[in-house]
Amino acid sequence: MFKIGLVQNNPKFLKGKENLAAALELMDKLEADLWVLPELFHSGYNFKTKKEAAKCAETADGPLAKILQAWTASRGCAVVAGVAEKAGAKLYNSAFFVNGPKLRVYRKTHLFGNEKKFFSPGDTGFWVEPVKGVKVGVMICFDWFFPESCRTLALKGAQVVAHSANLVLPWGPEGMKIRSLENRVFSATANRVGSERGLRFIGQSQVVAPNGGLLVRLGEAETRACVVECDPWTAKDKKVHPQNDLFKDRRPRSYSLA
Ligand code: ACM
Repeated sequence: MFKIGLVQNNPKFLKGKENLAAALELMDKLEADLWVLPELFHSGYNFKTKKEAAKCAETADGPLAKILQAWTASRGCAVVAGVAEKAGAKLYNSAFFVNGPKLRVYRKTHLFGNEKKFFSPGDTGFWVEPVKGVKVGVMICFDWFFPESCRTLALKGAQVVAHSANLVLPWGPEGMKIRSLENRVFSATANRVGSERGLRFIGQSQVVAPNGGLLVRLGEAETRACVVECDPWTAKDKKVHPQNDLFKDRRPRSYSLA
C-alpha cells in the first residue's frame, strides 16, 4: 500500500518561514510516502506586482529546497510543494518534487488570471518520477481544466497525479473526479483555504481513486493534514469493460486537427 498525505493550509501572505514551519508541523504528526502541498504554499497567492511575487521566490537550489531535501531524507518520503520559483530574471509558478537529494521542478503550464502578469508560462512540460516504485506526476491548479495535462501524465505512466492547487473557481474538486476516472489514476489535490485581498480559496483538498470515487475530502475552511492509503497498482488497469481498455482503445489519428 502507498500512503498519500495532503496538507490544506491558510498561508500568511509573504511569511515564508512561518508558512513552511506550519506545514512541517502538520506533516510531522503523520506518516506518508508522498506529501502534496498547495500551490504557492509558502508565499501566498494574490500578488499585485512581480516585485511582490519575487519576495518569497526561491531557486531550485535555495534554502527552501534544501530544507525539504533534508526533511524528506530523514523521513524516507517525497514531497510535492507549490513554490514561487526564481530562475534568472524570470519567475515561475512551480512545484518542487523532492525525494531526499533528488529534486525536480515542474513549472505551471496553464497560468490563471493575474498570474500571467508575474509568472512566465511553464517550460518543463509534464513528467513523472518514481516514489517507492510508484510513478508520480505533477500538475498545478488550473492545469486541471485542460484534460491534456492529466492525460499526458497518465500516458507517461503516472499512477498518482499530485495536484498542488489554490482553487478559486467552484468546479475543481468535482472536475478532478473526472480527470481520475477518464485516466484511471489516483489524483491528490492539495488546496488552501482563507482569503487574500478579496480572493477566496475553496479548500476541499481531496484524494480520488481511479474509479472516480472520493477517498477523502477536507472541508472548505479547515487547516489540517490527512493521509490516505491506496493501492497504486489499480491505476495500471485501464479497463472499464472486458472489451474496453481506455488507453488501448485510443484513436490518436482521429484526433488530428490537420
Ligand atoms: C489557480 O490556478 N490558482 C486558480
